[in-house]
Amino acid sequence: MSQSLATASYLGAAIFFILSMGGLSNPETSRRGNVFGMVGMALAVLVTVFGPRVSSSGIAWIVIALAIGGGIGLYASKVVKMTQMPELVALMHSLVGLAACLVGFGSHVDASVQFQGAEKVVHEVEIYVGILIGAVTFSGSLIAFGKLAGRIGGKPLLLPARHWLNLVALLAVVWLGQVFLNAHDLVAGVKPLIVMAGIALLFGVHMVMAIGGADMPVVVSMLNSYSGWAAAATGFMLNNDLLIVTGALVGSSGAILSYIMCNAMNRNFVSVIAGGFGSGAPAKRAAAGDVAGPHGEVVPVSAKETADMLREAKSVIIVPGYGMAVAQAQHTVYEITTILREKCVDVRFAIHPVAGRMPGHMNVLLAEAKVPYDIVMEMDEINNDFPDADVALVIGANDIVNPSAAEDPASPIAGMPVLEVWKARHSIVMKRSMASGYAGVDNPLFYKENNRMLFGDAKKMLDEALGALG
Ligand code: TAP
Repeated sequence: MSQSLATASYLGAAIFFILSMGGLSNPETSRRGNVFGMVGMALAVLVTVFGPRVSSSGIAWIVIALAIGGGIGLYASKVVKMTQMPELVALMHSLVGLAACLVGFGSHVDASVQFQGAEKVVHEVEIYVGILIGAVTFSGSLIAFGKLAGRIGGKPLLLPARHWLNLVALLAVVWLGQVFLNAHDLVAGVKPLIVMAGIALLFGVHMVMAIGGADMPVVVSMLNSYSGWAAAATGFMLNNDLLIVTGALVGSSGAILSYIMCNAMNRNFVSVIAGGFGSGAPAKRAAAGDVAGPHGEVVPVSAKETADMLREAKSVIIVPGYGMAVAQAQHTVYEITTILREKCVDVRFAIHPVAGRMPGHMNVLLAEAKVPYDIVMEMDEINNDFPDADVALVIGANDIVNPSAAEDPASPIAGMPVLEVWKARHSIVMKRSMASGYAGVDNPLFYKENNRMLFGDAKKMLDEALGALG
């Protein structure tokens, strides 16, 4: 394949990626967006493998690697459950970071690439920055994987003088960069690279370990952005235009998503990254002698009583959360919605921006169950309507409907906007126990006078309610 054909194909692949991102921004066009992404990626891989930069003797190795990687990907796509997607994505980000590190070290020791003067400096900066971002992404994403999979506790790990530690690490990285650029031979250059990679790995671990549960969405989207910049850095090192463009697309869209997440959570981006946001609150509260959690009476209801309340309502707002994903209750939710709408009940869905475990998690599930898009509302669109609703049905959600975010300035999630379900005439919370949500914060909603608890697996309970409604 000639170089010009390869360049034109790369341009085509980049256009497919841009169309893909455009499609993925809306549930109605997301399937098309996915197809564009797949076509673009297939084109990119084919052109790279059969392009002018791969010798015919190297193709066999690449095909073997493709078969192994593709096989693992195919297997993962078959066995990974929908609820495990967020941790799978975090694991994928870590692989991008690892690839950037390996390519960086590979480029440094590659004797076939010889630059002089300014070009040499630029190439070495690319290597240094690529390994730096790659190492932070790799270790940070692995910790995020552990936290999302529940293998590492959600509580923030706050080292004493952690901000000073971060500052010292930053200064060391700058100094090592200068040592690396001034190194006269390959071996002298490898040493600062290895030490810097070690510091960056520790920084990635420290950064994500210090994040409190409720702030994880910001970190997940931020690591998504880092993985994009790591891919772009790899593109610079390998002189591959498509990797640079693709990496920049992922990096910038991840950065925008992080910004949106921060706004949605009413968080300051720098505070989240510095870690431990809001974690001083429990200590402050304990010092004030207030160690008890929320209290009051919890009123349980049955599925049949829930069906009666829904049937008698004129307006119902359904709030789905992570528990709906765990129970895979979305199809039953759709059936109940259909029956209620046939009975002229106004049913709408309220979607919190960080509901579930990944951006758009609830939208994907509801779209899969064919819930009409026009009754699925964003938080800002519907939050003022709760006082007019007869029933707010909370399905496996907890943190996103926790009134302490709005009412208790000492709460670790204080300031985070939540769906104000307690303002409806009645709220019904469906969950299996009184356990707290991802952020590990008690929820006073369960004890409010107008709240009812429907205990049990969301799918099972909704099936029973559906039976009673039908
Ligand atoms: P959570 O606060 O995690 O609450 C989910 C609730 O669902 C749990 O309290 C659980 O209670 C219940 N549940 C679990 N399985 C269930 C089942 N089979 N049937 C019925 N209920 C079930 O979820 P949320 O309200 O959606 O809030 C999301 C949280 O995750 C936020 O803190 C957010 O910051 C964090 N987070 C979000 C993201 C993104 S990007 N969305 C990423 C990382 C973290 P029981 O155990 O008592 O049943």
